[in-house]
Amino acid sequence: MEDLIPLARPDVSFDEVAEDIRTILESGWLTSGRYIEKFEEVFAAYVGVHHAITTTSATTALHLALEASNVQPGDEVLVSDFTFPASGNTIAQIGAIPVLVDCLPGRFTLDLEDAARKVTSNTTAIMPVDPFGQPADMKGVCDLASSHGLAVIEDAACAIGAQRDGTCCGAWAGAGCFSFHPRKIITTGEGGMLTTNDADLAARARKLRSHGGVSAVVGLEFQHNGYNYRMSEIQAALGLSQMKKLTAMLADRRRVAADYSKQLADVSGVALPLDCEEGTGTYQSYVVLLDHDIDRDRVIAHTRKAGVETTLGTYAMHSHPAFAHFAYRAGDLPNSLLAQNQSLSLPIYGNMQADEVERVVNVLVANL
Ligand SMILES: Cc1ncc(COP(=O)(O)O)c(C=O)c1O
Repeated sequence: MEDLIPLARPDVSFDEVAEDIRTILESGWLTSGRYIEKFEEVFAAYVGVHHAITTTSATTALHLALEASNVQPGDEVLVSDFTFPASGNTIAQIGAIPVLVDCLPGRFTLDLEDAARKVTSNTTAIMPVDPFGQPADMKGVCDLASSHGLAVIEDAACAIGAQRDGTCCGAWAGAGCFSFHPRKIITTGEGGMLTTNDADLAARARKLRSHGGVSAVVGLEFQHNGYNYRMSEIQAALGLSQMKKLTAMLADRRRVAADYSKQLADVSGVALPLDCEEGTGTYQSYVVLLDHDIDRDRVIAHTRKAGVETTLGTYAMHSHPAFAHFAYRAGDLPNSLLAQNQSLSLPIYGNMQADEVERVVNVLVANL
């Protein structure tokens, strides 16, 4: 059998970081040093914000962002339902209530009308997601947020390099949170980044990231029950080397996505991801929607057997037991449930070859 075509393949190379790793190890300075500082500086400049704060993951960046935005236990936070459950989990973890919002039919981004309907006097924040790096309507989100005085925390886990209406994801308002998991656009193994233009929010997040302490005459004064969400210097060195390739990696992904869209255009039963007319996405994943009469789970099993790794797009949080105690039942958010059940994520990575794309398409068509 031919080699398996994996869902993702991170573009990392030892040679690109060898010198930096030697420098870091020989210095003995392994955390919170100049590589972290530089990575934060380069990332902030790329996104177009004043502050970027490294973390151990997007999940911990979201957790910090919620706390630094003063979201309190018992508050209601509007959040996209169709997402990796880290988004809703972080809201629940601080004792707030995730109020799940449906996605637009045929698109995976937040339905703003559903969000507006769900605002109550207890709503204090909104967490839109840029699904698979497709930018949400952040202008609409910010308008809704400002008319109700809500904090905005953008889950931009998959969206480094995406923009809408000329503004990068993560630079709109409040805070943006990015992931550097190996299936994302750039990777540091595990890792994340919080971006913001708000100096106070940034200061609170930095403090909470490191145990809630501030410098005192001797040692630290602990002002909050904070965390250790610090990234290491070696991860930051890897992140910096990835930033150098980001523009090229995004161009490669968009080329692969365009190739898929061309080859799948006339395949019946397969709805292609819609490009965002007001901006540019990243194609962190290339996700199609299969007609309701196609058994998506069978397609995943059969394509895998034929050497092509596929999976679902992402999850409808409301349909999972972890969210049942918020009184959700499967089907309460119909577009999101349909997206969970009928979406199919195809392999995509920057250095994917044309013959690999062709093989994926052939295997998919043969197994619909
Ligand atoms: C939309 C979204 N948010 C958050 C996360 C969590 O990212 P991390 O693994 O860096 O915590 C993911 C990961 O898949 C994601 O897709």
